[in-house]
Amino acid sequence: MRPSALFLLPVLVVAHDLHYNLHARQAPPSASLPSTSAASAAPTGSGSPTLSPPPTVPVTLQSTNPTAVPLSQITANETSQPTIALQSTFAAGSIPTGIPGAPPLPNAAALVPANYPPLDKTPPTDSPQVQQWIQQVASTGISIPNISVTTGAAACSANPAAAADTSRCWWTCGGCTRPSDITTCPDKLTWGLTYDDGPGFYTPNLLQYLDSQNLKTTFFVIGSRALGAPFTLQTEYMSGHQIGVHTWSHPPLTTMTNEQIIAELGWTKQVIKDITGLTPNTFRPPYGDIDDRVRAIALAMGLTPIIWTRLSPVATFDTGDFNINGGTISSSQVIVNFENIIANATTINTGFIVLEHDLFEQTVQLATGYILPEALAHNPAFSLKPVINCLNKPLSDAYVETNNNSTNPPPGGVSKSFPLFFRQRTNRLTCIYRLCGCDTLIGCFWLQPSHWIGGGEVRWNVDGWPPFGHDVYRVGHWHGRFNRWYCYRAVLRDLSLVICIPPY
Ligand SMILES: *[C@@H]1O[C@H](CO)[C@@H](O)[C@H](O)[C@H]1NC(C)=O
Ligand SMILES: *[C@@H]1O[C@H](CO)[C@@H](O)[C@H](O)[C@H]1NC(C)=O
Ligand SMILES: *[C@@H]1O[C@H](CO)[C@@H](O)[C@H](O)[C@H]1NC(C)=O
Ligand SMILES: *[C@@H]1O[C@H](CO)[C@@H](O)[C@H](O)[C@H]1NC(C)=O
Ligand SMILES: *[C@@H]1O[C@H](CO)[C@@H](O)[C@H](O)[C@H]1NC(C)=O
Repeated sequence: MRPSALFLLPVLVVAHDLHYNLHARQAPPSASLPSTSAASAAPTGSGSPTLSPPPTVPVTLQSTNPTAVPLSQITANETSQPTIALQSTFAAGSIPTGIPGAPPLPNAAALVPANYPPLDKTPPTDSPQVQQWIQQVASTGISIPNISVTTGAAACSANPAAAADTSRCWWTCGGCTRPSDITTCPDKLTWGLTYDDGPGFYTPNLLQYLDSQNLKTTFFVIGSRALGAPFTLQTEYMSGHQIGVHTWSHPPLTTMTNEQIIAELGWTKQVIKDITGLTPNTFRPPYGDIDDRVRAIALAMGLTPIIWTRLSPVATFDTGDFNINGGTISSSQVIVNFENIIANATTINTGFIVLEHDLFEQTVQLATGYILPEALAHNPAFSLKPVINCLNKPLSDAYVETNNNSTNPPPGGVSKSFPLFFRQRTNRLTCIYRLCGCDTLIGCFWLQPSHWIGGGEVRWNVDGWPPFGHDVYRVGHWHGRFNRWYCYRAVLRDLSLVICIPPY
């Protein structure tokens, strides 16, 4: 093989346009959801009566479930139906099929709630566990940008300077994404199905319907809900659905300090692992509220962000179903939103990801009675699957312990199967030569002018995490800044010399 210098490089990041005229469906958290606490509250089965009910709109559907609750009865103040039992539960020690290498299912009955933080509040950051996670994040060497915390409910209008600062890539205000964010499925007409905020009291109804149609989904789980409904979470997991992290108490994360973000994500990873035996490697930021600071922390914690598809300020793939319970949207309007989403979805060349919830009775009634039957009747046919599968990866790649680190490099983390090199700040010359193929490198390095001794051919194939900047490398020709850390995740092709870093 002809050795060639392969230097793996940060991808060029183009700042996205900011759009300030937000449509209601893509409104900032304070407007799109009633309140942070409502978003994470346990379902009561009936919302507060509304004085002026939200307007209903005409809907046309190809298909509905014969047992659907009439739309006119899916309201904030509806009389709730009795909950149903889980169709299947799994004994401690059961081994899931479809996840090679998964450990036996833990005994959920042995969970001790007192070992976890209080429900629905951001966990304290001075506990030994959180302090340990803070240390682990620091030890990755990933630099967390010094971006100021947003205020209130992270609304753009309340944070004009932050909203105008394109360098922080704040999704909430303009929909900016980085290559590490997953917002679509690659294949046209493929729908990465997701349900957030559970497990809820009516999640068993959704599971029953999904089973009846042989569908699998991704559940973005609230840690506080998981602790309250561990058997429901076990059934989701054992039934082959993907489990992702959705924080402990559902705050807009850009309003949190670094330590609070670590606590929110860390405890949710922990409780999911304690209940299922495996640790998710994906998360969804509540309200989609993510910027480069939140991204860096999440990636340092091994979590890849998954948001929902956004084509423009007026075409964001959020059904709005969450707000039925709060009385600010009618169920018929949610159906119309959904019809717009699928109409938009058929016009794009990729698949898509839609935001729905399994927290409330109303959202489950809509999903099982209308949205999923309608999606299944769609012509041309949609392919509905968990996000991990829509990315053409096996379910085992959704969890840290079973992930194939060669083919699905963990974000920000470093696979043990690779030699670590400039990830550590060494004081000796570090030269890395790798021969062959299709390995993956993930790491961080500090670059100063005297390090740049490369030459030859540079190729890059960066499929993930760029540096926190807009720099591009070329051999012998450096356009970026020196004297800073760079982190990357990249796939090594063909092989060879990577880089030499002299002592510093
Ligand atoms: C819910 O509220 C609407 C009007 O606000 C009212 O017409 C309807 O009867 C109420 N339903 C129930 C079950 O209370
Ligand atoms: C972070 O930014 C703030 C405000 O711009 C500044 O006061 C602070 O010193 C910075 N911290 C670091 C570690 O650079
Ligand atoms: C996409 O959605 C927007 C609003 O959500 C709607 O106005 C538009 O008609 C949709 N596009 C298509 C092709 O249906
Ligand atoms: C991938 O790496 C993680 C973290 O180092 C490890 O726990 C896991 O077992 C690895 N995956 C496999 C399949 O070995
Ligand atoms: C990872 O995937 C590659 C390619 O499919 C396969 O050859 C390898 O055995 C897998 N590794 C593990 C640990 O499963």
